Amino acid sequence: MTTLTTLYPAHIAELQQRASMALSRENLDTIVIHSGQDIRVFLDDHNYPFKVNPHFKYWLPVVDVPNSWLIINGADKPTLIYYQPVDFWHKVVELGNDYWQEFFDIKILTKATDVDKLLPYDKKGCAYIGGHIEVAQALGFETINPEGLLNYLHYHRGYKTPYEQMCMRESNRIAVNGHKAAKDAFLEGCSEFEIQQAYLQATEHTANDTPYGNIVALNENASILHYTHLDRSVPQAHRSFLLDAGANFNGYAADITRTYSFKRDRFAELIARMDQLMLASVDGLKPGASYVDLHIATYREIGQVLNEFEFIKVDADTACDAGIISTFFPHGLGHHLGLQTHDVGGFMADERGTHVNAPEQHPFLRTSRIIEANQIFTIEPGLYFIDSLLAELKASKHSDMVNWQNVDQMRPYGGIRIEDNIIVHQSHNENMTRDLELK
Ligand code: GLY
Ligand code: MN
Ligand code: MN
Repeated sequence: MTTLTTLYPAHIAELQQRASMALSRENLDTIVIHSGQDIRVFLDDHNYPFKVNPHFKYWLPVVDVPNSWLIINGADKPTLIYYQPVDFWHKVVELGNDYWQEFFDIKILTKATDVDKLLPYDKKGCAYIGGHIEVAQALGFETINPEGLLNYLHYHRGYKTPYEQMCMRESNRIAVNGHKAAKDAFLEGCSEFEIQQAYLQATEHTANDTPYGNIVALNENASILHYTHLDRSVPQAHRSFLLDAGANFNGYAADITRTYSFKRDRFAELIARMDQLMLASVDGLKPGASYVDLHIATYREIGQVLNEFEFIKVDADTACDAGIISTFFPHGLGHHLGLQTHDVGGFMADERGTHVNAPEQHPFLRTSRIIEANQIFTIEPGLYFIDSLLAELKASKHSDMVNWQNVDQMRPYGGIRIEDNIIVHQSHNENMTRDLELK
């Protein structure tokens, strides 16, 4: 049976290979990765939630231990300096007996400031990767987050190993449990705050465990793209519900969105049509195709929907040329997904990191890369009724292209986004989200 335990050795072997290539290209011999440090709130005596360095959790499923380090040269067994202090104030995450441990030469660090005794004495040829520049400097590192090294690693992070793919199926599974519970809470008439509690309960996550702040939006709030406020009051009517909520497994993110209508109404029909459009867009993910082209094709298709539902009086091509689709779909089709929700490397044309911008007319698109096997993407088209953008359109020379009466009827519903997480394989796509029967 394929399990994380059976897949992990090949993951480590692949990462060793990537590290070895990156080091020789950059004329370096060692990568030192810092898990991070607790960051104190100004004038206070407690810390912000700890967020581990993604390069650290790339190597091992440890996301909650600060002051830990990896020493990697791409050939020898990596060293893990694992922070395990004697501390009666805080929970100390003790090393258990996990499948990943035999792949590291583990040294226990009991006092964070003693790490210099365990790091390479001669820092020449060593690159520090981490978020604490002042710590790196104090320890004597001269090469800190070097661009060439990071570019190489970030480019290759685009190709997920079978171990990573399995982690992401699992984060999808957790998030889908949350989505199902949240949908029930919506249909029971709960507030945004209560729906969020139902989601967290079902995923066994705290709000700090989710990969990004959940968007739990009822009615008009669904038109606010990054709405993370959680209204405590129950609205007078439940019309619509947009939930953009993820989960973490071993540090890998799920990023899933669903939109529901409370009744079988026009908005429900629009959701069904957007779902059809969304799945057609997923079918466009193919090795060798361009994500930018897929975005542009979907953008035009949204023009088609606007026309079918008589929100606009012109055809999709005219709407495209006028740029008015951007009023209704003002963001990108999706992004790479992995250790980070908006995963790195989306604009890299090659492993040197040659940057290719998104097209000028589509500035919010987060990837310009050619689609290849083993990449993982979100596909997340949307259609919104956003007051500020509609006001701009109304004041523009294209105002006549819009059927304002039909648009105004939809404002109380906010908008629609539907987002799945997909692994591109050479022969087919694996829609992890739909495989879990989240409709
Ligand atoms: N939840 C953030 C995004 O969909 O990109
Ligand atoms: Mn999302
Ligand atoms: Mn997303």
